[in-house]
Amino acid sequence: MKNADQENIVIVVHGGAWNIPESLLESTRTGVEAAVREGWQVLIAGGSALDAVEAAVNHMEDNPLFDAGIGAALTRDGDVELDAIIMDGKTLSAGAVAGITHIQNPVSLARKVMEKTSHVMLIADGALKFAKEIGFPLVKKETLITDEALLEWKRFHSFNHTIDELFSHDTVGAVALDKEGNIAAATSTGGITAKMPGRVGDSPIIGSGAYADNKIGGASATGHGESIMKVTLTRHAVYLLEQGLSAQKAAENSLHYMFQRVHGFGGLILLDRVGNVGIHFTTTHMPWAYIKNGNLYSGV
Ligand code: GLY
Repeated sequence: MKNADQENIVIVVHGGAWNIPESLLESTRTGVEAAVREGWQVLIAGGSALDAVEAAVNHMEDNPLFDAGIGAALTRDGDVELDAIIMDGKTLSAGAVAGITHIQNPVSLARKVMEKTSHVMLIADGALKFAKEIGFPLVKKETLITDEALLEWKRFHSFNHTIDELFSHDTVGAVALDKEGNIAAATSTGGITAKMPGRVGDSPIIGSGAYADNKIGGASATGHGESIMKVTLTRHAVYLLEQGLSAQKAAENSLHYMFQRVHGFGGLILLDRVGNVGIHFTTTHMPWAYIKNGNLYSGV
């Protein structure tokens, strides 16, 4: 049985919760608008929620403005270590990758993990080996490193910040509801600048970086990974939906809870099972966009 009508098809995306410089406000907003259109085109052509969130996230992974794929934040040693997850609310299946390089679209590799293995997450060398085995496209590490990411990395090194101060630009994500009533969520990130080599954040962890359940709703998170993991932010938000809160209230209360409990900052996008949207962030900015009934809404 369908639990959503055609008119309830909806997709919402975010481009990371952080303190965006004035000079990037417009371009990041344009970037999330382009990504949400990409996902929307998939949905109206009859594609699944999974196809739509993958397409939207791929678009932001390819955009050097965002901390995912090309443009990823660099580790303490100047390397690229990417994390991503995709989750199917119909079956609760998920695929994730962590600590990977040489992959421009980690969320697509995460989907392959979900569809082609009996596992949920592959990391580092094992994930790369899997990518090679299935003929997944590889890129040179340099392809993923932008001048801006290098500048930011140098800036952090010069000022000798602590890890908690290093939370700068952050993560992309999408949640969609398709015409069959299926919800999917996806999140992809380079993590936080100057993170320790081997550090994995919230993004590839089910219930932290993303969660989707057709019976309740779906969410994608952005923000300080160590805080998000401690409160399993997206599962928390979906639980609040289950308790009867609106999508907007669930997003607000979850981020409030994270601040109260662990003093963490971040952002959430949320859909309930019939396509009501929740968007909230406790950082200065978070570019977001959604399309519902053919109308595009966006903000920073
Ligand atoms: N939210 C992304 C990270 O902390 O890695």
